[in-house]
Amino acid sequence: MGWLRMACKSRDMLLIDHANCEKKAASTALALMFAYAEDLDLTGKMSRLAREELRHYEQVAKLIRTLGVAPQRLAPGRYAERLRRLVAKSEPHREVDLMICGAFIEARSCERFAALAAQIGAPLSDFFRGLHDAEARHYRVYLDLAGRAAKRAGVTLPARVEAFAALETELITLPDPVFRFHSGPPVDTQ
Ligand SMILES: [Fe+2]
Ligand SMILES: [Fe+2]
Repeated sequence: MGWLRMACKSRDMLLIDHANCEKKAASTALALMFAYAEDLDLTGKMSRLAREELRHYEQVAKLIRTLGVAPQRLAPGRYAERLRRLVAKSEPHREVDLMICGAFIEARSCERFAALAAQIGAPLSDFFRGLHDAEARHYRVYLDLAGRAAKRAGVTLPARVEAFAALETELITLPDPVFRFHSGPPVDTQ
């Protein structure tokens, strides 16, 4: 897997982008609490998720310090932005899409943590293994919320999931000039 080889060689960049992903995951959960404020089930789940993502951020930030990684400002890669472009602009379809989007991002993180844990070695392997379990829970939270929103909206969930799956597969398999936590394989290994 080209991405995994690149990730193991780019530890500092991986950690800096990972810290950004955790912040972004918390901020997305908070944004959803505002967007769907009348849904107390959703806001309760998103509040717990945001707190957990911020704890992950603190753990990555601590590792960044301990390992002496120089902090730097990194622009996000194409992954989340491209997935977001597929999200419907109007309700009730928008809520279904946002939840599916969240589920894919969490599920991909989960898959990447498992791959990293097996390859990257100490001290990061144990850390990534621990995060894998959390992300597996998170994607199920989003998927449940997607199912509920789809039912309310009269949307066929599997068809919408398929549309996101096709795009997501492209994003992680097509060569990507920018290395990030959710990027595709590096261009030079193709
Ligand atoms: Fe996280
Ligand atoms: Fe997460």
